Amino acid sequence: MELRDVILLLHPAIAVIIVFPLIGIVINRAFQVRQRRLETATEGKSKIPPVVGQEHVKLGRALTAAVVGIVLIGLAFGIYGNILEKQVWTKTPVKVILITLFFVAAIASLALLYKASDKMWRGIFATLSGIAIVVLGCQDGVYRQTNQWYISHYYYGVTVALLMIFSLAILPDIYKDKTNRWRTVHITLNSIAALMFIAQGITGSLALLEVPLSWQESYVNKLYEQQCQIKPCTIIQAPNMPKKP
Ligand code: HEM
Ligand code: HEM
Repeated sequence: MELRDVILLLHPAIAVIIVFPLIGIVINRAFQVRQRRLETATEGKSKIPPVVGQEHVKLGRALTAAVVGIVLIGLAFGIYGNILEKQVWTKTPVKVILITLFFVAAIASLALLYKASDKMWRGIFATLSGIAIVVLGCQDGVYRQTNQWYISHYYYGVTVALLMIFSLAILPDIYKDKTNRWRTVHITLNSIAALMFIAQGITGSLALLEVPLSWQESYVNKLYEQQCQIKPCTIIQAPNMPKKP
């Protein structure tokens, strides 16, 4: 396997090994937190231990970093793949430097968001990391599938990353707010995020089936050139290849 293929596998492998198990635990704890809160409110006690709240938040915080990380890896694969293929570095090196700075900005502002406690700074760092991700998503080489946005791995991926950043940004407000307004906002948005994670599992698997390994690339590109996905094609055997029995 070539280096490019190993890099391509990095994103789906991290998704399967780290991100999806984390999503499972975070959602499980979310149900327990809610059940515990409602039981305590109505019956005065609950069999669910109070630690589920801390576990949901601790793993939720880790999930934000994991989702943003995996999105940046997915974007980097497309963007730097295009830079190498079209030799953008020799033509417009400033563009390459700027793109790299946006990757650094996305990571740095997320790191600062983890540290920030003041409402204004949480808002600023969340907005900055969100903008950096969106700007990177607009670069050449990213397979956006805009004409079929409703099944696009890219659009759902960027949206869940923004929703996770938002969850991290409003974290202290969920506790402070006595009217439960932020809690309701959090549950509503993250229920949508949970559905989008399912969509990511499906569209990501499809992407993995469609992106060829290096040795397959020239052949698969020919199939696309001849539009074999929408009309029948005949594969002609090379003259020097041994005939099948
Ligand atoms: C798919 C992801 C997520 C889902 C479906 C989800 C859902 C929920 C639900 C249902 C609750 C319970 C609300 C209630 O008490 O009625 C909750 C609480 C909470 N969530 Fe999430 N959440 C997710 C991710 C996150 C993330 C990424 C963070 C932080 C970065 C986070 C922070 C919190 C906090 C601070 C609470 C309050 C916990 C408590 O009362 O002890 N959640 N979430
Ligand atoms: C939380 C889950 C996931 C998120 C947030 C996510 C996000 C992204 C993003 C933003 C991209 C770049 C846009 C693009 O080129 O399409 C991408 C690319 C990709 N993802 Fe995911 N992904 C997730 C899970 C998965 C899974 C489970 C798989 C496969 C099993 C997968 C396979 C791929 C592949 C193969 C690419 C490269 C596609 C290409 O360059 O055309 N992803 N992902």
